[in-house]
Amino acid sequence: MSTQTVRLFEVGPRDGLQDIPLAVSTEDKIELINRLSETGLTHIEATAFVSPKWIPQMADAAKVLNGIERKPGVRYTALVPNMDGYLRARNAGVDEVAVFTAASETFCQKNINCTLADSLKRFQPIIKAANQDDIPVRGYLSCVIACPFEGNIPPHVVAETANALRNLGCYEISLGDTIGAGTPESIAAMLDAVVKSVPADDLAGHYHDAGNRALSNIEKSLSYGIRIFDCAVGGLGGCPNAPGAKGNVDTFVLVERLRTLGFETGVSLTKLSSAQDLALSIKREGQAA
Ligand code: HMG
Ligand code: MG
Repeated sequence: MSTQTVRLFEVGPRDGLQDIPLAVSTEDKIELINRLSETGLTHIEATAFVSPKWIPQMADAAKVLNGIERKPGVRYTALVPNMDGYLRARNAGVDEVAVFTAASETFCQKNINCTLADSLKRFQPIIKAANQDDIPVRGYLSCVIACPFEGNIPPHVVAETANALRNLGCYEISLGDTIGAGTPESIAAMLDAVVKSVPADDLAGHYHDAGNRALSNIEKSLSYGIRIFDCAVGGLGGCPNAPGAKGNVDTFVLVERLRTLGFETGVSLTKLSSAQDLALSIKREGQAA
């Protein structure tokens, strides 16, 4: 990848729609993904094969994946918390899966009902099966700056866990500032530790935007050589198990800022507008519900 290119990982249909209390229709989800597919984005996280008892908003994961028009060159990805989720995702024809854990024990427990150590053990057979099926596995690490229950998280714990995910076989580690607590200073302290264990090329920034600092945090991360960022159309996003989690950095705003900084993403803002309109109308309906 050229140093002037940034790859965007669109998480709106998953991270965004999991946090809207109103049940968004399967048709709207499919339409949103279809519109995103036309924009030049190469990675779209379409859904999550998680327990519907925990996240009812994602109960239609297979219908969503089966209903979209697959654009060549776009990778349609999904979150999987366990082997059951992996098998459901694979049977629905997912292109890539993501396992997810946290640098905070309490968040791990509240989000996936196990310890951090057990989450890593749970991922081993998933990654083995995915390797056999030729399905790439991404790893998410939540609470890389702070946890809604434990407060600040030490950078060395983030570095150790990111390294553990990579050693398990995740091709890329997405560093989640789940509640948007990061500042350029705390992001720098975290990355100082992490890049000693995991090369910047294998890292992505997943910064929720609670205090309008996500763009500054991304700029700081660019200075560490990170060239992959997660974002959500319309600034959708949050996590039902993380009180206070706000939207992800807005895809449109991020594309514009990166352009100003001299980085190309391959995303057409004109085409993104159509997906953005739908995302914002879904968000408005959710807020009104
Ligand atoms: P558990 O209750 O310990 O699991 O939950 P279980 O094995 O006892 O299963 C409970 C029930 O769920 C059973 O049904 C299972 O069959 C079913 P019952 O027998 O009672 O009828 N079940 C499933 N159904 C469908 N698909 C599955 C599945 N697994 C079990 N895959 C579990 C453990 C991990 C399943 C649960 O905690 C879970 O699904 N958690 C997901 C939470 C989640 O999706 N959180 C949001 C995404 S993470 C995030 O947003 C952060 C991120 O954006 C980065 C950042 O911002 O930091 C990635
Ligand atoms: Mg998130």
